[in-house]
Amino acid sequence: MQQFQLFIDGKWIDTNETLDVLDKYSQEVYARVAKAGEESVDEAITSASKAFEREKLSPFERYQILLKASQLISDQKEELAMIITREAGKPLKQARAEIDRSSQTFLVAAEEAKRIHGEGVPVEAAPGSENRMAFTIKVPVGVVGAISPFNFPLNLVSHKVAPALAAGNAVVLKPASKTPITALKLAEILDQAGLPKGLLQVVVGSGSTVGNQMMKDQRIALYSFTGSAKVGLKLKQETGLNRLILELGNNSPVIVDKEADVELAAKTIAAQSFAFAGQVCISVQRIYVHEEVQEIFLEKLKEYMADLKIGDPTDPETDVGPMIAEDEAERAEEWIQEAVEKGANIFIGGEREGALLKPTILTDVKPEMRVVCEEIFAPVASVIPFSDIKQCITEMNQSDYGLQGGIFTQNIDTAYYAAKHVEVGGFMINDGSQYRVDLMPYGGVKDSGNGKEGPKYSIEEMTEERLIVMNLKV
Ligand code: SIN
Repeated sequence: MQQFQLFIDGKWIDTNETLDVLDKYSQEVYARVAKAGEESVDEAITSASKAFEREKLSPFERYQILLKASQLISDQKEELAMIITREAGKPLKQARAEIDRSSQTFLVAAEEAKRIHGEGVPVEAAPGSENRMAFTIKVPVGVVGAISPFNFPLNLVSHKVAPALAAGNAVVLKPASKTPITALKLAEILDQAGLPKGLLQVVVGSGSTVGNQMMKDQRIALYSFTGSAKVGLKLKQETGLNRLILELGNNSPVIVDKEADVELAAKTIAAQSFAFAGQVCISVQRIYVHEEVQEIFLEKLKEYMADLKIGDPTDPETDVGPMIAEDEAERAEEWIQEAVEKGANIFIGGEREGALLKPTILTDVKPEMRVVCEEIFAPVASVIPFSDIKQCITEMNQSDYGLQGGIFTQNIDTAYYAAKHVEVGGFMINDGSQYRVDLMPYGGVKDSGNGKEGPKYSIEEMTEERLIVMNLKV
């Protein structure tokens, strides 16, 4: 069994306690990691603060390091993908796609490192300021506290670490305790890429110890967190006036209009509701289908779902593997049962074996059922019929969440109406809510959080705009 250590101040560190990381399919212990206590977290934040003061890399140096990291990620694709598959239970083909995306995230961050700039401010236009000239510059915020989730152990870590470093910050990263190995591998890669010691530390441990301590430490200038709305709210309450980027829960809606390409809609939704067992913040969860096309849509959806290969995530053909833990699959199953007791029907799926929950489609659901109004984060979606698009969008917007949504329609007016009125941070026309490439702005409204990811947009959040005014003699 492999053993891993914490990464603090450029050194690999052991502690008195360890944490077991399970292979999420076999449930056997796959790796053992040193577990951070109070002392290690304090050391990590101290090291980041000192490195931030000491290491003033030029934008070009940051570009070179991030570019090299992007290349190293690609070079180690197969090894990294298998680690993700084992520690997260993510099907290998989706894990491979995550490595490609992560390499892109670093590449885009590298490019953005060369484009961080302020703007001229025409203060001379103000009466009495005729001899002045002003402009802004962007300065790094300092120490970034990154707290990442289990579902993209490399790419959601990359979305925090790469822009933070591109902007000239130092980072203390707490990866999800169920999937910490990939993050430690990333630290190794950044070390090889030439990142000066102290600019990144990786501390592994539980949210209640490591996370809580990070939240209370005033040396952290900005927190970038992906996870539940409940923890996001706690972070907001605990961290006072510190900056926050929050990517929280969601229950993505997608509309299949009467003028939709139903084939495309069914094919896309079959993929986007069940990738990584539905444990993606933008998985399609609520499928609003015009009643004129509902029958044909369900028929086609069934056909596409029949093609999904379910089981061992290390098999390159597998589409749907286990959920992150058996208790999570039990929870989702409970929500399905509760919906059924209140009148919902299981159109497909519903069966569970350990952490493996079969892709499930529910019909006859009601807005107040948890499978509809909360984030299920499991391979479960509901088909909801509608007859009037405006009424449908009003109903969709009753959700507490709003990360991404989508519509399938060939009617440009309907598409634009939906794009303007569905309350989300990103809206896809003729694609599902799960579309994401790493250069785009990504972030939600309402309880889905605030602030944006995507290197260009995170860099905006991770820098301060400083105004400089010159009083000239001419
Ligand atoms: C997420 O689950 O928030 C990330 C989705 C993605 O990057 O594709």
